[in-house]
This record gives sequence, C-alpha cells and structure tokens, in this order.
Amino acid sequence: MIENAQIEQILSFYKCPCNVITSRSGGGFWDYFLQPLGGTTINKLNARVNDFTIAIGKAVTIAIENMNLIFRIKDGEQATQYNYFENSCNLDKCAGMLAIGVNPCGGFVQYNLFDMPHMLVAGATGSGKSVFLHSVIVSLAINGGVALRLIDLKRVTFSKYNGLHFVDGDAVTDAQSAERVLREEVREMEARYKTMEHYGVENYKDLPEEKKLKARVVIIDELCDLMLNRETRRSVENSIVRIAQLGRAAGCHLILATQRPSTNVVTGLIKANIPCKIAFMTSNAVDARVIGCKGAEHLNGKGDALLSIAGKKELERVQAFYISDCELSKLVEGVRAEQAPPTPPKTVKKGFFQRLFT
Ligand SMILES: Nc1ncnc2c1ncn2[C@@H]1O[C@H](COP(=O)(O)OP(=O)(O)OP(=O)(O)O)[C@@H](O)[C@H]1O
Ligand SMILES: [Mg+2]
Repeated sequence: MIENAQIEQILSFYKCPCNVITSRSGGGFWDYFLQPLGGTTINKLNARVNDFTIAIGKAVTIAIENMNLIFRIKDGEQATQYNYFENSCNLDKCAGMLAIGVNPCGGFVQYNLFDMPHMLVAGATGSGKSVFLHSVIVSLAINGGVALRLIDLKRVTFSKYNGLHFVDGDAVTDAQSAERVLREEVREMEARYKTMEHYGVENYKDLPEEKKLKARVVIIDELCDLMLNRETRRSVENSIVRIAQLGRAAGCHLILATQRPSTNVVTGLIKANIPCKIAFMTSNAVDARVIGCKGAEHLNGKGDALLSIAGKKELERVQAFYISDCELSKLVEGVRAEQAPPTPPKTVKKGFFQRLFT
C-alpha cells in the first residue's frame, strides 16, 4: 500500500489538501479516508481524478461510504474468493434471509429479501450474476417457507433445480411462457389480496393457520430477453410493475437479473418500483448510472459488487459468495435423493431353481 503521507502530498500538489485519517486494504482496493482541509470539496477532488490516476499509476476514484470521504485506489489484484458453504453458517434462521457476501472489513453481509422486498441484479457478462442468483436460491431453500418460480431464458442457469420441492414447476425457458408465468403470479397476488380482505388482515403472514401461505419469489435470469421481445415487452413490464408495487403484503417477490441495465430493459417504471439493487461490474458508466450505482464500472468483476438497499443512502461494497458448479450439483442431487418417495422393496421373482430349493 502507498503511505498515507504520500497520498496527502499528492493531494496538496494538486491543490486539494486533505488529511488522511486512516487507510485500509481489501477486496482489491486501497481506501484512504479523507478529511478535507482549506476549501477542498468533493467536486474539486472529482475534477482531479485523472491527475491522481496518472500520478499514482493506478485507477483512482473518489467514493462516499457511511458519510466518509474515500480516496480509493484499485490495486488490480484479484479479490479474495469467499466460499458460500464455508461462510454462510452465520446466516440467520429466518425465512427470506439471504447470505450476500463479505464487506471490505471482513463482515458478513445478509439481508432479508422479504424486507427489500424486490431486487435488481445487474452487471456485465462474467461479473458474477448467476453465481449470486445460485447463492440466493440456496439461502432461500435453506431457510424454507418459500416457493420459487424460475425464469431462465438462457436455458442453462436454473434447469438443475427442476423437480426440487421448493421450486414451483420447471424453469421456464421461453419468452411466451415467461410472460404467462408472470401473469399467473399477478393473478395469484390478486387472489391473495382477496383472501386477506376476506379475513380482514393486512399481511399474508397474519392469515389464520389453516390458510397459511408460502412466500413466492420469481427469479428471472436475463430480463433483457423478455424486455427486448416486442411481443412480450408490454405485458412483462406491466406484470413486473404490478408485483413490485403490491407484492410485499401478499408475499410475492421479484429478483430480476440483467446484463444490460439500459433504459429500454430497466425502464423508469421498473427502476422506480424496485428500490434494492446489486450491481456487479458494469461495462460502462452509463449502465452503472441507470441502476443508480455510480462507480460500478470500476468494480473488479467475479462477485465484486455494490449494494443499494432501500432506505440506506450510501452504497455498500460486498464480495459476493462463491458456489462452484460442482458443489451446487452435489447439493441439488442430495436434496433430490432426500425428497424422493421411498421406493417399495422390489418383489424379486424367484427363479426356477430357487423355487425348487425353498
Ligand atoms: N462471487 C464470486 N467469487 C469468485 N468468483 C466468481 C464469483 N462470481 C462469479 N465468479 C467467477 O466468474 C465466472 C462468471 O460468473 P457468472 O456465470 O455468475 O457470470 P454472469 O454475470 O452470470 O455472466 P453472464 O451474464 O454471461 O451469464 C464464474 O464462473 C466464476 O469463475
Ligand atoms: Mg449468467
């Protein structure tokens, strides 16, 4: 890491004097916490970012986290990989809880999907969206109390979950069926509201014991394939917005992932109604801005992410947990074997000689 005094020197050379209060390294970044001196403003610092980058020889960004001003240097090293199964033992035993990852200070990051209550996942190809979705599915399955509806237009991400008890139907792989499934979810949500009205309750969790319902989570990998399809676009957007607006009380939740968070995929209406976002490395600054996670273009990829949670002003940096394909297949096979109905013992027909000897 570069000495704090050297950073102070560079800052004052470019007429942005600051004290470096403390520094830390982690997640592929060196962070220096700044205390501005003598008229240094965030605008002034931002205007000089290119000069800092040249002076240091590494990419520099000015970030704000938890009301701290941070001079951030990307150190170019690979971020540490955190295995899901080794690290998620701290996950609260509460339905909807998601083990998300580890923050730069090494803290375990978890949030409850049901409080969010919907989530947008964005990032360039290879940035770690599908791995993250798998960790979400495993977290939801471990804690139980949910029925998942999986939409996977790439056909390769979710098909392994087909037939598991926490998944409702097979993963949908074509746009028309996906559109139908979303309409069904809206209908289900409306039916739940009718039931809630009948029993005079405001939340599906307060329904009487005999009418208890599971939460439903629709997970879509590659929203862009649905939104750029002229036939399905309007209906898909309507269903998503309706679930996003009314879903929480009825226990209907959405997780939407996309490689292309452009305005024709994540439309203004969708963005406005999904307050929680996780941005993996985006391919450019415009994509990062569309989802409201400025700076996501500077992330390291491979699970390095910025988390924007409703009600929190600052973005939170996390290294998402990693699940390998092999671990996932083992887990899925394990669940499949456990839930398989016990096969009746085969009545072996005795052969001619056996009959003779008994
Ligand atoms: N949390 C992580 N920790 C370490 N490595 C990761 C992590 N997430 C992803 N990777 C690495 O990046 C690769 C690509 O990840 P993933 O398949 O999730 O990308 P993606 O964003 O879904 O890409 P695409 O949009 O093309 O589907 C993985 O195979 C893995 O090697
Ligand atoms: Mg993917």
